[in-house]
Amino acid sequence: MCGIIGYIGKNPERILLEGLKKVEYRGYDSAGMTVCRGGEFITYKEIGEVSSLASKVKLNEQFGLGIAHTRWATHGKISLENTHPHFSNNCDIALVHNGIIENFEQLREQLNLRKIECCGQTDSEVVAKMFDNLSISSLRRVLKNLVGSYAFVMLSKSGDYLYFAKNKSPLYLSKGDDCVIIASDPSCFVGYSKSYIELDDGDYGKISLKNTVIFNKNDEKINKEEKLLDFDFLSEDKSGYEHYMIKEIYQSRIVLENLIKKYQSVGLKSKLEEIKNFEFDRVYLVGCGTAYHAGLMGESFLRKSFNIDIFCEVASEFKNKNYSIDEKSLCIFISQSGETADTISALEYCKEKGGKIVAITNVEYSTIAKKAEIVLPIFAGQERAVASTKAYFAQCTLLFILTNYLKGESYEKPLKSLSHNIDFGDDNILKKIAKQICNYKNVFFIGRGNDFITAKEASLKLKEITYIFSSALPSGELKHGTLALVDENVLVIVVATDEKLFAKTINNVCEIRSRGGHLVLVTSLFVDSDVEKNFDSIIRITNLPNTLMPMQTILSLQKLAYFTALEKGNNPDKPRNLAKSVTVE
Ligand code: F6R
Repeated sequence: MCGIIGYIGKNPERILLEGLKKVEYRGYDSAGMTVCRGGEFITYKEIGEVSSLASKVKLNEQFGLGIAHTRWATHGKISLENTHPHFSNNCDIALVHNGIIENFEQLREQLNLRKIECCGQTDSEVVAKMFDNLSISSLRRVLKNLVGSYAFVMLSKSGDYLYFAKNKSPLYLSKGDDCVIIASDPSCFVGYSKSYIELDDGDYGKISLKNTVIFNKNDEKINKEEKLLDFDFLSEDKSGYEHYMIKEIYQSRIVLENLIKKYQSVGLKSKLEEIKNFEFDRVYLVGCGTAYHAGLMGESFLRKSFNIDIFCEVASEFKNKNYSIDEKSLCIFISQSGETADTISALEYCKEKGGKIVAITNVEYSTIAKKAEIVLPIFAGQERAVASTKAYFAQCTLLFILTNYLKGESYEKPLKSLSHNIDFGDDNILKKIAKQICNYKNVFFIGRGNDFITAKEASLKLKEITYIFSSALPSGELKHGTLALVDENVLVIVVATDEKLFAKTINNVCEIRSRGGHLVLVTSLFVDSDVEKNFDSIIRITNLPNTLMPMQTILSLQKLAYFTALEKGNNPDKPRNLAKSVTVE
C-alpha cells in the first residue's frame, strides 16, 4: 500500500509532512522524506508513524523540491534501510514508490552483475538503483523492465522537475498558484489548489512549476483534463472527538441524512432505474473484510425479495469459485476506498465474462468507480480511521435502498424512521462491558439470520483494534464443534434482535451458560427476567423493523470495540499491521 507525496514550492518540509498525515491511512510502519535545496539532498527517515518523522524534521520556509513516503511493509522488514526514499547508486536520484514490483528479484540479479548492490530488501530500492540519470528517456527505459504495480515520484539533485509514473496504484497531480503537488490521494491538494489531474495506468512524465509533460502507455505525449477538487464535507480534524473512529461512528447519522437526500435526485434514481431495467437472472456481491460483510447483508436483503440466485463472495476467493457469469449477471462490487486490489481483480474477471458491473464506493474517482458501468456512491465523506465504521453503515443502507427500489417500495419512509430512532447505545454500559472484555483472551460473537452478519462485523471490529482473539458463528453452529472451547474463560456476545429467532438463540445461550461461559446480550427485544439471568450484561438498543436493525445494531457494537481498544491502551485509529487501503492481492 503506502502513501506517497511530492512537492515543489516554498516550505516543502511542512507541506510534505501535512500531506503524509493525510495519506498515513495507507500505512504507518515507517516514514521518510528527501528535500533538495541548492543541489543537496536532506533526508529524514523514522520507524513508526508520521508523527515520529515530524518530531525530527527541521522546517525550512525556503523553496525546495521534495518527496515523502509512509510505508506499509510488504517486501522487507520494518527498518530504516527499507524506509523510502530510496536512492540511485550514485545517490543523485531519490525515489518513493507505492505498489509491488513482481520481478524485482531478477532485476536485482541484473544489478548485481553490474556490481550494483542494494542496502535493504525492498523491491522499490531495486528500481531506484536502476537509474543512473533522471530524464524522460531513462524513466521510459526503466518502466519497460518493470512487472507489477507502481506509483513513483522521483527527483534528482540537479533538476527542477519531479518525475512520476503510474500503473495500478493511485497517483494524482495538482498545480497551485506557486506550487506543485503529486500524491496518492487528492485530499493532499486541499488548501493549495482547486483542481487536479488524475493519471491513468501507464502514464508517466515530469512536472515543474512552469511545465507539465505527460506520456501515456503508448509513449504518446498527452494533455489531461483537470478535474475540480470537490470534497464533500471532507473534515480535516477530529471535531473535538478523541479519535477519528468515534467521530466517524457518530457521523453515521449525517451519512444517513445525506443518503436519503442524495438518492432523491433524478441522477441517482436514474442509476437505480438502469439496474432495475437490466434483465438479470443472477446477482453477485463482492468485497473484502467489512465491505464483504455489507455484501452479505445486501445478499440477505435481496434474497428475501427476489427468487433468483444471489451470491456474496469474498473478493480474494471469487475467481477460485468458478461462478457462472454472463451478460445476465449483475455484479456488485463494494469497496469504501475503491482501490482494493482483490476487489479490482474480481471486477476485471466479471467484466471479461460480460457481467454488468456496479460499484458501491465512497470514492468516486477511485479505480473501482472508473472501471464500473454504474457507480452508486455512499456519500460517507472521507473515512480516516483504519477500521471501517460509517462506510459499513452507509453500504448496508445503500443496499437497503437498492433492494427497495428494485422491489418498487419506498426507502425514504423506513430510513427516516431509522434516522429518528438511531441509537448509539448507552456509553456507561458499553464502557463497563469493554472493561470486562479485557479480562478475556477469547471472545465469540453469535447470532442468527442478519444478526449473524452483524456478529461477524462486530467480531472483526473487536479483533482488529483490540488484538483480542474473536470469532463469529451462527448460534446454531456452536454445538457442532466450537462449544468444546467454552468454559469460564470464554466470553460470548449474543446478538439477538429478531423476535422469530430469539427462542432458539436462548437455547444456545443455556448451552453456553451450563458450561460456565460468560454472556453479554445485545438486543432490541423485551427480555423476561428468567432469560435475563443467563447474562452478565445486556446492551439494549431501540427496536425497529427487522430490515432496519442491521444498521441500528452495529453502531453500539462498533462503539464497544472502540471502548475496549481504549481500555487496552491501543490507538483505535491505527491498528497494528493494517492499512486503510489494501492495494496488494
Ligand atoms: C475493517 C476494514 C477492512 C476493509 C477492507 C476492504 O474495518 O476496514 O476489512 O473493509 O480492507 O476495504 P475497501 O472497502 O476499501 O475495499
